[in-house]
Amino acid sequence: MHVFTTNKDMLEYLEPFRKAGSTIGFVPTMGAIHTGHQALIKRSGNESDVTIVSIFVNPTQFNDPKDLIKYPRPLAQDIHKISGAGADVLYLPRDEEVYPPDFVPVVFDPGHLQQVMEGPFRPGHFEGVITVVHRLLDVVKPSRLYMGLKDYQQQTIIRHMIKKVQMPVELVPCTIVREEDGLAFSSRNVRIDPALRSIAPSIYQTLLEARKMLETKEADDVRTWGSEILNDLGFRTEYFELCDGISLEPVIQKKEHDLIVGCVAAWLGDVRLIDNLVLKGHPLNA
Ligand code: PAJ
Repeated sequence: MHVFTTNKDMLEYLEPFRKAGSTIGFVPTMGAIHTGHQALIKRSGNESDVTIVSIFVNPTQFNDPKDLIKYPRPLAQDIHKISGAGADVLYLPRDEEVYPPDFVPVVFDPGHLQQVMEGPFRPGHFEGVITVVHRLLDVVKPSRLYMGLKDYQQQTIIRHMIKKVQMPVELVPCTIVREEDGLAFSSRNVRIDPALRSIAPSIYQTLLEARKMLETKEADDVRTWGSEILNDLGFRTEYFELCDGISLEPVIQKKEHDLIVGCVAAWLGDVRLIDNLVLKGHPLNA
């Protein structure tokens, strides 16, 4: 695996592949690589001629500066895991490569897409994600962008951005990878208090129950039930939302939506967990 820290070196390496018409798959990450990230890398490896992974802990998407400082950076392990998953290139840009002095961020307002769910709890977060993903795509110019459905709202917003600013890249949504007990892999899982760890899979269990419940009940009943169950179990639920899987609008009447996704954010001790599950309809091509 080739490791590059400057745009110039990385682009020089990719140039012959581009000239030969090879497909370039891109997996942007913030490091702290786990099995979920590795699944994206493997999928890109299966579908693309060249797979490039980036690690960049993007300062502009952290609404709390303490989280930026706290963010884990186990570089040696990450390199091992990324290379083990079959990546061809690891791109480790320094801040000034991503945000040079003359940098002008993309102008794209996702409107209500960023006002729902994560929006109120993480002010400025999606602006930061849009800025960095657009910038990385602009530099790398991949054929395909691999993103996890774990961050459902994030991939929806990026899908809209790509369409709106007409970037020539295909967004590939990838299935959520879970630990054996159902907890979605996340770099935050290692921070869960061991005494609370056995409760963590209840988010997924509750979403599975919610799917059954939606067969007979309306969205609002499921919302209220889901929040209450999680709170009773010891979580502090920020939202248990049922949204349209395309527009992210809150569902009022289930019959009016072909794709309904249940999205949850809940604190377990001092760790904030997010997860989601398709409750009605067919998942995005994952
Ligand atoms: P990060 O949290 O490192 O996640 C990188 C990618 O891995 C995202 O597309 C995310 O959805 C995916 N991912 C994380 N956990 C997953 C799981 N359990 N199953 C499947 N995919 C999973 O998301 C970001 O970084 C950043 O916001 C980024 C897009 C890199 C912009 O800075």
